[in-house]
Amino acid sequence: MFVQPVPTLCRDGDSVLILDQTALPWRRAQCRLHTLDDVAHAIRSMQVRGAPLIGGTAAYGVALALSRDGADAIRLEHALALLGATRPTAVNLHWALGRMAAVLRPLPDEERVAAAWHEAAAICADDAATCDAIGRHGLELLLGLRVDDARPIRIMTHCNAGWLATLGAGTALAPVYAAQAAGLAVDILVSETRPRNQGLLTAWELREAGIPHTLIADNAAGLMLARGEVDVVITGADRIAANGDTANKVGTYLKALAAREAGVPFYIAAPYSTLDFACPDGDSIPIEDRGGDEVCTVFGLDTAGMPTQVRLSPPDTRAVNPAFDVTPARLIAGIVTELGVIAPGDLLRTYRRART
Ligand code: MRU
Repeated sequence: MFVQPVPTLCRDGDSVLILDQTALPWRRAQCRLHTLDDVAHAIRSMQVRGAPLIGGTAAYGVALALSRDGADAIRLEHALALLGATRPTAVNLHWALGRMAAVLRPLPDEERVAAAWHEAAAICADDAATCDAIGRHGLELLLGLRVDDARPIRIMTHCNAGWLATLGAGTALAPVYAAQAAGLAVDILVSETRPRNQGLLTAWELREAGIPHTLIADNAAGLMLARGEVDVVITGADRIAANGDTANKVGTYLKALAAREAGVPFYIAAPYSTLDFACPDGDSIPIEDRGGDEVCTVFGLDTAGMPTQVRLSPPDTRAVNPAFDVTPARLIAGIVTELGVIAPGDLLRTYRRART
């Protein structure tokens, strides 16, 4: 079982500790959340991010809200609605809140607080186990790729779908950690993922784990795929529609297109909690718009080593910032889930079979 080097999220008495991802990769800082508003802010501001982690954090947000503010039905519905509106694309948020609602709504008020803490912990434990299963299936996938034994398997990824984004090993990076544990050599191409540069989080994770990796500008991905420098692309997902169309961090679609052109297999790694069978296809997935300011600015360290925000463009520059894009199912070779590697068109059938 993968153990996170620092827990992304954990209960500490009547509060919750998170690893503040806005301080990374420069500083490892924890942040304590006491209230429903603290949790909503942490999700909106991306102190916690990544679809599974957003879901787990929201679940604990419900527990915090009920234990602090009272556990009657009105307060429960308020917490569910407020947290449900924090980020629109990652469906794990709604999945986790739906799980909390299903357990808590039927209970009498006096039983809700204990049940909320219990269910939030169960959601997080389930995610950790799910990540491990994704890692095992992903490792089999890597072992099955016909790659020269004399060199590492070269994997391209986008954004951060590692342990930072989950309660366990991650999704896209779970097979990478499983490969490391199995002694299979891998080399990871990490795209920086403008505008928020979550690729730097991936590079940080891999560096901490001692896994070989190389950071590239997003725009270099097409060239590297075309030159034959990549064996497989694996990314995470924020919402997968019933037909397999997949929303993930903006820039994923371009990688899938370039991978198809280059004949490189493109995989998504995600738990079933990222599937939204109510969305028939990618057109019905809501895409978060985070505002142009993130495009016009960048964070880094100044010459004194202090974290600083720098403006890249004149203040009146018009910019749009869709945070996700949709990769059509036809470009996806398979989806690495806890139930195995599944063709995009077989997701629903496999899920139903597993539940019977
Ligand atoms: O905006 P973010 O950083 O929350 O987006 C994260 C991603 O797009 C990840 O690839 C996705 O959530 C999968 S995380 C295991």
